Amino acid sequence: MIKRNSKQNKSRLSGSNMNQDQNENMDNDLHELFLEECADIYNAEQQLIKALPKMAKAAESDELRRGFEEHLEQTREHASRLEQLVEQLGESLKRKTCQAMKGLIEEGEEIMKEQKGTSALDAALISAAQKVEHYEIASYGTLVTWAEQMGHDEAVELLRETLQEEKSTDEKLTQVAESRANQKAESQ
Ligand SMILES: [Fe+2]
Ligand SMILES: [Fe+2]
Repeated sequence: MIKRNSKQNKSRLSGSNMNQDQNENMDNDLHELFLEECADIYNAEQQLIKALPKMAKAAESDELRRGFEEHLEQTREHASRLEQLVEQLGESLKRKTCQAMKGLIEEGEEIMKEQKGTSALDAALISAAQKVEHYEIASYGTLVTWAEQMGHDEAVELLRETLQEEKSTDEKLTQVAESRANQKAESQ
């Protein structure tokens, strides 16, 4: 159940550069839900900022390690975009733990331990990373749709950029898997 706060005064005062339409869209259940989801994915990104260096360290191939390192930089950017867009709406990010990301990372750590020293380690790392990307793609896809619906144009732009980066990361992971990691695992 989403707790609904009275935002009437706040929404009238916040963001002087916002148009009337947008102000009218700051006091409803969808707006509250949008903020909850932003807080959830923000925490997910924070968890990934901690997990990605470990995944990079564990990766066997240079290509995969570089991929994780590159995505770590993007992930930092994803977190700061969320801070920025929530601030532009005159709101603040709530503290929340994303249980889904916690579970995905725990499973990833488990599989990394199990596959340590085997030729299937990179294939395992890629599978864990793609599950994470798909969770993020689902979340950002939803956020884009909600932001469009409410006319939060600046937020739409920032969320779309992140969504695109999550999608291309997922595609790059597929390429690494297909070009190398899977064959390597199968050849042993
Ligand atoms: Fe991200
Ligand atoms: Fe990501």
